[in-house]
Amino acid sequence: MHISILGLGAMGARIAARLLDHGHTVTVWNRSPERAEPLIERGANIAATPREAAERNDLVLSIVRDDEAAEVIWLGDGGALHGLRANAIAIELSTVTPDWTRRLGEAVAGRGAGFLDAPVVGSRPHAEAGNLTFLVGGESSALENVRPVLDVLGGVVHHVGAVGAGATMKLAVNAVFAVQAAALAELLAMLRGAGLNESEAVGILNALPTASPAAARVATLMTERAFTPNFPIDLVEKDLGYAVEVAQAFGVEAMVVAATREAFAEASGRGFGGDDIVGIAQLYGG
Ligand SMILES: NC(=O)c1ccc[n+]([C@@H]2O[C@H](COP(=O)([O-])OP(=O)(O)OC[C@H]3O[C@@H](n4cnc5c(N)ncnc54)[C@H](OP(=O)(O)O)[C@@H]3O)[C@@H](O)[C@H]2O)c1
Repeated sequence: MHISILGLGAMGARIAARLLDHGHTVTVWNRSPERAEPLIERGANIAATPREAAERNDLVLSIVRDDEAAEVIWLGDGGALHGLRANAIAIELSTVTPDWTRRLGEAVAGRGAGFLDAPVVGSRPHAEAGNLTFLVGGESSALENVRPVLDVLGGVVHHVGAVGAGATMKLAVNAVFAVQAAALAELLAMLRGAGLNESEAVGILNALPTASPAAARVATLMTERAFTPNFPIDLVEKDLGYAVEVAQAFGVEAMVVAATREAFAEASGRGFGGDDIVGIAQLYGG
């Protein structure tokens, strides 16, 4: 297929590389153009603006930081919406709010094009290996049209509802992960403080039915002080903020998620924002 990709951060660059490796024709755009260079060497075409990228192809994917970034690249001057073809399909892969995806979905429908919100579960290694999971909101017909592309990027696709449902589901997934990571950071500090052997304690925690696969992995990485980023703390904090907003919109006072967000904001403020989610342990002397 002929695909345009807007956003070549850690995730977008890996997604573009994988699509190129699987024989797709790929046009890329990124705010900082130098990030496109390794992809151009691998055969990608470059567009000068998101609009130009959208004008060239029938499938347009975006994966940028947040709502603000997505709004600029879709609706701003030179934004992709202005170049979108009537028969195109646009997919928002970024972790953003359901409100934004619904706004964008309406704008895309106004051009006569199809739209999916399809945030991804999995991090940099999953993007490289084609192991991403997609949480999709939107029409089944649009999903079936793009399924061959999603199959290259990941095996699992959950179609969870209308536009906005994918974003809402994704915020819940990330909040469940982050709450566990923050709790483990605190509790490992407690166990160390009480004089228990940390590795042995983690072995016990991880062997019990109270552990989840994600919590077990985080606990082990905390004992290894393995903070090289896959899912950076700054992005975790952003996603928790969105989750609190969405919960509030439905009258849910998400106290645990809000407190977890404060812990991650504190970690960002102390200079750990570029470290992996596991690096939340550093707040507690880990
Ligand atoms: N990392 C993960 O583990 C992971 C996993 C699943 C989903 N996600 C989500 O995927 C999205 C991208 O994540 P990432 O890890 O690739 O982030 P990243 O490495 O920080 O890259 C961010 C991307 O957003 C662009 N951007 C930021 N602000 C912008 C603006 N105002 N206008 C235009 N472009 C802007 C950046 O452009 P520049 O290069 O010019 O800065 C870059 O392309 C986020 O929504 C994130 O939450 C991340």
